[in-house]
Amino acid sequence: MNTIRVSASRPYDVLVGRGLLEKTGGLAAGIVAPCKAAVISDDTVFRLHGLSAVRSLEAAGFSVTALTFPAGEASKNLATYGRILNHLAADHFTRSDLIVALGGGVTGDLAGFVAATYLRGVSYIQIPTTLLAAVDSSVGGKTAVDLDAGKNLVGAFYQPSLVICDPDTLSTLPREVFRDGCAEVIKYGVLGNRTFFEELETTPAEEQLEHVISVCVEMKRDVVQADEFDRGERQKLNLGHSFGHAIEKISAFTVSHGSAVAMGMAMIARAAENLGFCAPAEAERITALLARYGLPTEIPYGAEDLYQAARSDKKIGANAIQLVVPDGIGRCHLEKVPVADLPRWLAAGGAK
Ligand code: NAD
Ligand code: GLY
Repeated sequence: MNTIRVSASRPYDVLVGRGLLEKTGGLAAGIVAPCKAAVISDDTVFRLHGLSAVRSLEAAGFSVTALTFPAGEASKNLATYGRILNHLAADHFTRSDLIVALGGGVTGDLAGFVAATYLRGVSYIQIPTTLLAAVDSSVGGKTAVDLDAGKNLVGAFYQPSLVICDPDTLSTLPREVFRDGCAEVIKYGVLGNRTFFEELETTPAEEQLEHVISVCVEMKRDVVQADEFDRGERQKLNLGHSFGHAIEKISAFTVSHGSAVAMGMAMIARAAENLGFCAPAEAERITALLARYGLPTEIPYGAEDLYQAARSDKKIGANAIQLVVPDGIGRCHLEKVPVADLPRWLAAGGAK
């Protein structure tokens, strides 16, 4: 087992190791005395892995309530959030009780926001069960739900008290969901770790899962410690996401997040090459690695659609968008691009 300490406003450990799910109860008892525990999970994940977590918590003395919701992003909304809060209140959960988020990024974000706001904050544990959640969303304390106006528009920074990551839980993931997570894994290599990028080139991620998750979590830990509240350095984690969000939006979210991030990463690598930031051979290696992991690198949308989608992103400033630009494999910088200059970047990225 690998233990990664995150020294954020609330310090906590991220535990990465096979078989940890069955030890959830004992590990939870290490951070809070046995109490009421609400296991929040989507119906798919709960069917596959819920019982292991519940049994282990009960064996350690916790009194467990399972709260499930239909799998998928459509559940990450105010209605599900409100329903869960009402359940907790009806069950008389107090501030000394525990929330356990068992699932992918949707569950982690939703349950984390419940934990951040119920009674102004209760302790919670993240148990990520997708690769994306393991390497990204379960660490760093960003919690949120979606509004009709857009994704993640209401939320809070609220760090978990513990993250339990059992790579065995990923064995039940559909191939395409695992592949989506690989886009985020490759992102870390491009962003700041050339050696790791080369490891991904030589050995498939699924053959070195514990190592891959640990490296990504350590990198995310460093970014979160440097900029917990997303005022600068943390924005680098958005590599591939600015154009990726535009692609997701144009597709009406029929293109998965991982596919959109992969396309966005290929696009910004090409733009970086054409605008003189990144050597052509480096940009080609980035695109080639994405393709080797079965991720798309060609953009099925035109420059005008991408421009309109990118400029209407509710999270960008009125006049400029912050792009994360690769200077080479393992090195990126933040570039504040005026909205008026976006078409040049999109064209350089291959948009027609
Ligand atoms: P998800 O949670 O919807 O999981 C994807 C699908 O996989 C779901 O259908 C789920 O039921 C299924 N699944 C999960 N674990 C499984 C398992 N072990 N076996 C079989 N099926 C399983 O989506 P996701 O891709 O994990 O996360 C996407 C969400 O994460 C988005 O809402 C995004 O906004 C958020 N996110 C948050 C952060 C953050 O820092 N908080 C970072 C990145 C993404
Ligand atoms: N996933 C982006 C962040 O945590 O900041």
